[in-house]
Amino acid sequence: MKLLIVNGPNLNLLGKREPGIYGSSSFEAFFSSLVSKYPLVDFSYFQSNVEGELVNKLHEVGFDWDGIIFNAGAYTHTSIAIADAIAGIKTPVIEVHISNVYAREAFRHKSLMAKNCKGIITGFGLQSYELAIQAFLSTNL
Ligand code: DQA
Repeated sequence: MKLLIVNGPNLNLLGKREPGIYGSSSFEAFFSSLVSKYPLVDFSYFQSNVEGELVNKLHEVGFDWDGIIFNAGAYTHTSIAIADAIAGIKTPVIEVHISNVYAREAFRHKSLMAKNCKGIITGFGLQSYELAIQAFLSTNL
């Protein structure tokens, strides 16, 4: 199974950025642990702070990969382009968030992309990504 994890803006700062909300481990360290823990999954990881680069990546993998686990960061709440890109591809996308966006400011309660995703996992720290992996492995998306 080929799974791509995509992180959007500011998520390159995980470990340094607001650790009280996002934790103190870097995504790279967490990603390495996933690669070791799930040897049968062919993982790839992409991060960008640039909206169009995220759209390009969805187009690139979105017709033959098995799944995309996508934390679009603040673009979740603002980007029609990303929502449209998810609607336009075949590969199923699971939206994830580290924090519980519904326990935070009202502007984080709206996701423009959610209706085009298979589901949403929010609020479990970095474990949100692993729960999404398990959803891809255990359900027929
Ligand atoms: C986030 C939540 C977003 O509201 C925020 O803009 C982020 C991170 C999360 O993972 O909790 O950058 O997607």
